[in-house]
Amino acid sequence: MRLHGYLTWLSEDYSRMPEIHRCILHDGVTAKPEVPTMSFESTVMLPSGAAMPRIGLGTHEISGASGPDAIAAGIAAGYRLLDTAIAYGNHAEVGEGMRRSGVPRDELFLTTKVRRRTAGAEDARVRIQESFQELGLERLDLLLIHGPNASREVAIDTWRGLISARAAGLVTDIGVSNFSPAQILQLEDATGVLPAVSQVQLSPALQRREDVSFYLERGIVPMAWSPLGVAHGVLEDAVVLRLAATHGVSPAAIAIRWGMQRGHVVIPKSGSAERQRGNLRALEIELSDAEMASLEALDVAVESEWEAQNRAAW
Ligand SMILES: NC(=O)c1ccc[n+]([C@@H]2O[C@H](COP(=O)([O-])OP(=O)(O)OC[C@H]3O[C@@H](n4cnc5c(N)ncnc54)[C@H](OP(=O)(O)O)[C@@H]3O)[C@@H](O)[C@H]2O)c1
Repeated sequence: MRLHGYLTWLSEDYSRMPEIHRCILHDGVTAKPEVPTMSFESTVMLPSGAAMPRIGLGTHEISGASGPDAIAAGIAAGYRLLDTAIAYGNHAEVGEGMRRSGVPRDELFLTTKVRRRTAGAEDARVRIQESFQELGLERLDLLLIHGPNASREVAIDTWRGLISARAAGLVTDIGVSNFSPAQILQLEDATGVLPAVSQVQLSPALQRREDVSFYLERGIVPMAWSPLGVAHGVLEDAVVLRLAATHGVSPAAIAIRWGMQRGHVVIPKSGSAERQRGNLRALEIELSDAEMASLEALDVAVESEWEAQNRAAW
């Protein structure tokens, strides 16, 4: 795969990257001198040493009576990472889908998020316990703060709550979503703990090159929400359609593969078993350097007003 090439482009001197960063560039839980072929089981290593799958199933709006079966279908198709949030109101469906799949808990990687408005460490502790009840689980693999609270002090105290949950063994790794690099540094300044993961909107239409470079230089895993760029028309773009025809996959698989080759963990959502399977075909193709370069031009670099407000909060 071409991950090496793209990440050396993102960070100019590969040999000087911190060890964790170099681990992130490679498949599996150990760093290797050569970049191996990406396999279905490809993972990135988190600070805890846990292996996080490079591709997961987004679950926003997968809820209600059909929710558990849609989750179980995704797991049957091969997804091992699931992304949910308290705000999605679907913890019960996600937990039930995990059980219905028959795949052991330890083989699944679950991410959820406490709300942006969480009011500090004690509130985080209560919300985590509620999440366990709703999910029917006793441990989370990754817990994120969904967005920066309007108050910097409250956000930092919530981050302390996540650090405590990790210390108590309730959560294996912790991170943030929709925080700016400057806000992430403020969390680190206040607590000495950097997020393991930064989940932000990332697609060929919103590439955030500087931010991704910032993450990778610090060993923070970039996790891409809305990776298909539906709102930006990525799936109808002429370049994407041409690459899809060349590789015999859907336009969505091209957008997913682009993100994976840039070092993102990618979490496309689909409630359709057929599209869930089709999206995993991103693992069967490889985009050449020229094909990756042809997608660079799609970057319109426009984030939503909500994201811009979050990043400007403090
Ligand atoms: N942290 C945050 O603030 C945040 C924000 C947004 C999302 N997220 C997370 O990121 C996940 C993914 O983001 P997202 O759901 O916004 O966007 P997405 O995964 O980029 O796109 C999902 C949309 O694309 C459709 N779709 C899926 N596969 C397709 C295919 N092969 N061809 C055509 N259409 C396809 C889905 O419809 P069907 O279901 O009908 O297939 C759905 O309408 C979410 O589910 C959630 O877990 C996080």
